[in-house]
Amino acid sequence: MHYGADYNPEQWPEEIWPEDVARMREAGVTMVSLGIFSWARIQPSEHEFDFGWLDRVIGLLHDGGIAVDLATATASPPPWATVAYPEMLAADERGTSYWHGSRQHYAPSSPAYRKLAGALVTQIAERYARHPAVVLWHVNNEYGCHLDIDYSDAARDAFRRWLLARYGTVDALNEAWGTMFWSQRYGSFAEVFPPRHAPYSHNPGQLLDYRRFTSDMLLECYRMERDIIRAAGAAQPITTNFMGAFKPVNYAQWAAELDVISDDLYPDPDDPEGFREGAFHGDLMRSLKPGTPWLLMEQASSAVNWRPSNAPKAPGQLAAQSMQAVARGADGILFFQWRQSRAGSEKFHSGMLPHAGTQIRTWREVVALGRELGDLPGLPPDDGTARVAILLDWENWWAIENPDHPTSLDYLSLVRGWYDAAHRLHVQVDLVRPTADLSRYRAVVAPHLYLLTREAAANLTAFVEAGGHLLVTAFSDVVDESDRFRAGGFGTQLRDLLGIAVEDFGALVAPGSSGPGQQQARVSGGGFAFPGILLAEEVHAVGAEVLAAFDGGRQAGRPALTAHSSGAGTAYYLGTVPDDDGTGQVLRHLFGAAQVEPVLPGLPPLVEAIRRGRLLTVINHGSESVHVEVQGRDVLGGAVVQGVTLQQFGYALVLTGD
Ligand code: GAL
Repeated sequence: MHYGADYNPEQWPEEIWPEDVARMREAGVTMVSLGIFSWARIQPSEHEFDFGWLDRVIGLLHDGGIAVDLATATASPPPWATVAYPEMLAADERGTSYWHGSRQHYAPSSPAYRKLAGALVTQIAERYARHPAVVLWHVNNEYGCHLDIDYSDAARDAFRRWLLARYGTVDALNEAWGTMFWSQRYGSFAEVFPPRHAPYSHNPGQLLDYRRFTSDMLLECYRMERDIIRAAGAAQPITTNFMGAFKPVNYAQWAAELDVISDDLYPDPDDPEGFREGAFHGDLMRSLKPGTPWLLMEQASSAVNWRPSNAPKAPGQLAAQSMQAVARGADGILFFQWRQSRAGSEKFHSGMLPHAGTQIRTWREVVALGRELGDLPGLPPDDGTARVAILLDWENWWAIENPDHPTSLDYLSLVRGWYDAAHRLHVQVDLVRPTADLSRYRAVVAPHLYLLTREAAANLTAFVEAGGHLLVTAFSDVVDESDRFRAGGFGTQLRDLLGIAVEDFGALVAPGSSGPGQQQARVSGGGFAFPGILLAEEVHAVGAEVLAAFDGGRQAGRPALTAHSSGAGTAYYLGTVPDDDGTGQVLRHLFGAAQVEPVLPGLPPLVEAIRRGRLLTVINHGSESVHVEVQGRDVLGGAVVQGVTLQQFGYALVLTGD
């Protein structure tokens, strides 16, 4: 179990470093991420490298028994680089350049950036590939962070090449984007630009491809660095830090390229439901590389600096949130950052070693957590506990959030609605892509698969026919991979499986707004009673059984929730977006039909129970003390457990099935 933090020794005089190492040992630190923002220190000018300081600090850490996750330092190019090569700066939608003075200001597709980054990584990798302290490589940092989309000239040129590789001919591109609309037809790839500032809506196919391109450019950067590290003879695993579900970067596609998945997680300590974000991150990270432990690469020991108001963590919250990750397969708990900065925009961000010193609660909690993690035995990776999958698809995310739709949908918050409801029911879920192997799941929830490929539809159909229970929700199966309608109306791929036809999407005005067009949608019947929001679709049952109907509103009397048997399984369709309670009602029905059990029965909503193989973790995030019936052996100390009483942020890690 790794324990540690980003370590930025270049921010401190060298005399402090031995004290850092001593304090790290006191805190139980086993590994630090070194050099993430050290480019300017390692390479003070283009033809000058200074590794003396890095040699010394790695040596000190190694002598102190602390391993190094060595970063490639490419996330923040120094000012000399962008002054010499201004073409490597990213640009906004109007083509206006970003400047240095912050971080992550580079254009990922810029040849100048890649050349400089490549040269830097070559130097670092060749120097440290065989250093015994280095146990992991940390490529760049949070790819895509701050700069969702780059519209620079470098991106323009790279986009044209990317389109040529994807479509081969400009005719194929015109066909895919439907450019006969609004006289958008291209005569050559050289006429295509990034979707820069325009008077009105961009072509949706272009927007979707620009998202794909953006993720691919960052992936090219990652691969370039990884390949340089490998070519230098490094045998250590290589990672780059993810940020939960992050729209610009298709992590489901990237996962195969990383040896170890790592994640950065910053739930708001003030949000009583914030722990569900930690749960969601952890379940996603575990699902990205099944059966492989992952790392919580960054979290805060207490407050961050970047919200309008930055609450400190409450007593015990740090350990409880760390155990959420361990419970979900993390084999390392690390922080941003080791020593709180004295200068710079993150000086108010907490560190493991606080600016206020070691006589404060944060430090005591950091030390206690390090001790506890250090005492943990080797834990089994998850062996496939979840019997439920929720589908999360980046390409669908990009397409469904294109403009000019019946209503604006926030895909991630809709997926989170289903995830959070399952979490409240204490059912363990994986988060997987629609083409994943679904054979070990009993129930699959497919929220709003607007963009549905033939391959994904075939996968979902096979899942149901083999006996699975599938729930598809409104505004699904609408377009193909180019964001075009398919011939033959809507629902062309899943119509037979679902036994329904969708005639209209029935947009509702946003909840809370008033005025003309205000429509209410309520779902009732069959034991269901909940409001529907955003969409109340006009659905016709064509073979499906109607479980609940709309009552009131323009779809009154029409099907809202349907079920249709196909092969050995059942496919459900919900033609609206339920509120939280309604989401729970629908899931309870689905889980009942699919015989899915909670991890533990009868837990209150603010208590979670998670399985990682034989390890059962129970955490109380609520303020009321709870007693939980759980039997086994305490992982820490080996005592027999016959039920546990947990105060707020209390947890138990129990080995079951001896
Ligand atoms: C992350 C980043 C760190 C630090 C942290 C602050 O996004 O990787 O370098 O800035 O946020 O919360």
